[in-house]
Amino acid sequence: MRFTVAIDGPAAAGKGTIGRAVADHFGFAHLDTGLLYRAVGARMLRGERAEDAALALTPEDLADPDALRAPDVAQAASKVAVIPEVRDALLAFQRAFAHRIGGAVLDGRDIGTVICPRAEVKLFVTASAEVRAKRRLDELMGRGLEAEYDTVLADVRARDARDTERATAPMIAADDALTLDTSEMSAEAAIAAAIAAVQSRKNA
Ligand code: DC
Repeated sequence: MRFTVAIDGPAAAGKGTIGRAVADHFGFAHLDTGLLYRAVGARMLRGERAEDAALALTPEDLADPDALRAPDVAQAASKVAVIPEVRDALLAFQRAFAHRIGGAVLDGRDIGTVICPRAEVKLFVTASAEVRAKRRLDELMGRGLEAEYDTVLADVRARDARDTERATAPMIAADDALTLDTSEMSAEAAIAAAIAAVQSRKNA
């Protein structure tokens, strides 16, 4: 049975944590689509044209997620993500992933609106920019990287602006998405709410 869960929202709102937990709970496959844009961004930083990089992407490009989570790669990802040819090149892979038998969870910015407009469950996971910057700061420091709150907050805001204001597939909640504001929610509570939303759609 095909069953797609689309999770969209801004950086560091908790999409990945929620997506992985929902996928584990239901035995679904999980795709963090941000990693695709990050891999294209990383290749662009090495001097390649973004459009060519998107067409040439291979599984090896995704082999080191930690390197792809570096702040300069995140900014590069949101820059290449405004290019329609890049988005087009990554579309078929994401749709094919969503059609896996047994169910799939995809998280990103345009899953419920563009990639999987007919997803069975759509969640829009968000939180204030300040809370997201604090979470990202803790994550970076936890990985032993140096970071400052003000810089991380400025990065989060720059990425929000680019992701929201771009012409092609901007970040926006689908009309039929359930919004989860995790600003004052524990990860456990957010995961429980997401699992409940999926379960009730499965029962319907
Ligand atoms: O989710 P993330 O922070 O890893 O995403 C990195 C960048 O990739 C983000 O700033 C915008 C872009 N992106 C996108 O445009 N569409 C997606 N479905 C996922 C990510």
